[in-house]
Amino acid sequence: METKIFQSEELDYAAKLLKNGELVAFPTETVYGLGADALLPESVKQVFQVKGRPSDNPLIVHVADFEMTKPFVEKYHPLTEKIVQYFWPGPLTLIFPIKKNSLSPIVTGGLSTAAFRMPDNKKTLELIQKTEAPLVGPSANTSGKPSPTTAEHVFHDLKGKIAGILDDGATQIGVESTVLDLSGETPVILRPGAVTKEKLEKVLQTKIFLDKHLVKESETPKAPGMKYKHYAPDTPVLMVGDEDWDQAIKWGQKNRKRMALLAGPSIAAKYQVADRYVFMDDTVEAATHGLYSGLRALDEADGSDVILAQVFTENELGAAYMNRLKKAAAQNYFDKN
Ligand code: TXA
Ligand code: MG
Repeated sequence: METKIFQSEELDYAAKLLKNGELVAFPTETVYGLGADALLPESVKQVFQVKGRPSDNPLIVHVADFEMTKPFVEKYHPLTEKIVQYFWPGPLTLIFPIKKNSLSPIVTGGLSTAAFRMPDNKKTLELIQKTEAPLVGPSANTSGKPSPTTAEHVFHDLKGKIAGILDDGATQIGVESTVLDLSGETPVILRPGAVTKEKLEKVLQTKIFLDKHLVKESETPKAPGMKYKHYAPDTPVLMVGDEDWDQAIKWGQKNRKRMALLAGPSIAAKYQVADRYVFMDDTVEAATHGLYSGLRALDEADGSDVILAQVFTENELGAAYMNRLKKAAAQNYFDKN
């Protein structure tokens, strides 16, 4: 199969392919998604096959507006209206209990709840409207690879396996949406993202809880996807605390490690190592934007024994960045002892 790259003039054609049951990857503000018509179970099945994704890991249903969730949702949480008004379109996925048989178990993994999101990307919202159906959309990477933040990343992983990719350049945020479970009494964050706990608490004036496993590594997560080893490059990653860079570099030199560096410009300026991916600036936003791109680039360069990566404080957006980085690093920090 030839995988076509679509520009915005070709939205009608891309929508037609989706209606015909083909797979088309789409841009969002977080990462690229692998789109299929959510109401065509056979197409949704192919999404799992193409990605090599475990079938018990449910998909997000992408909608063009809040209205589109209504045929499926059994009951909305009292905070829904406020949340949707404030955060949609945006990087926030909401979990609701659904009406029986309203969505295929292939979409929901057989759960009685489903995940919904209205992405903040004009072309994709138009694509959903033109398809006249919600689109499932897991990140458009091969399972286990970092999520794609450019059409090129998608092409690299899925060329020949899907009908096309709607190209809209690099995504803004760089990591997947926040997943907020609204199916119980108290809202719980199952996956941290750019809509942070702090932002939600400020807008809603109520305490927002984090899924226990996000706090305690030993717990089994509620979002099935969080239990899989994700985003891990083949080259081992070590996280390096701000104070530990001198020692980490010395350790690498002493042990004849070929080191790659993933960090902001201030840290990168200090150390001469061969492979490097430097974030656009020293902020956590820039690091989050460049994280997956950087991991992909350094892993592909394939010249290094270890990737040394910058850490951030685990609050606000830092919580999302560190959640993904820790997975890529299998929790390993450079330990000066
Ligand atoms: O930013 C994003 O969310 C991207 C873009 C393309 O929209 N999509 C994305 O999809 O990251 P995916 O499939 O890679 O992640 C969906 C997450 C998984 O961790 C999954 O287990 C969880 O949402 N999830 C889906 N339905 C669920 C449900 N009913 N209950 C709990 N977790 C659910
Ligand atoms: Mg994913």
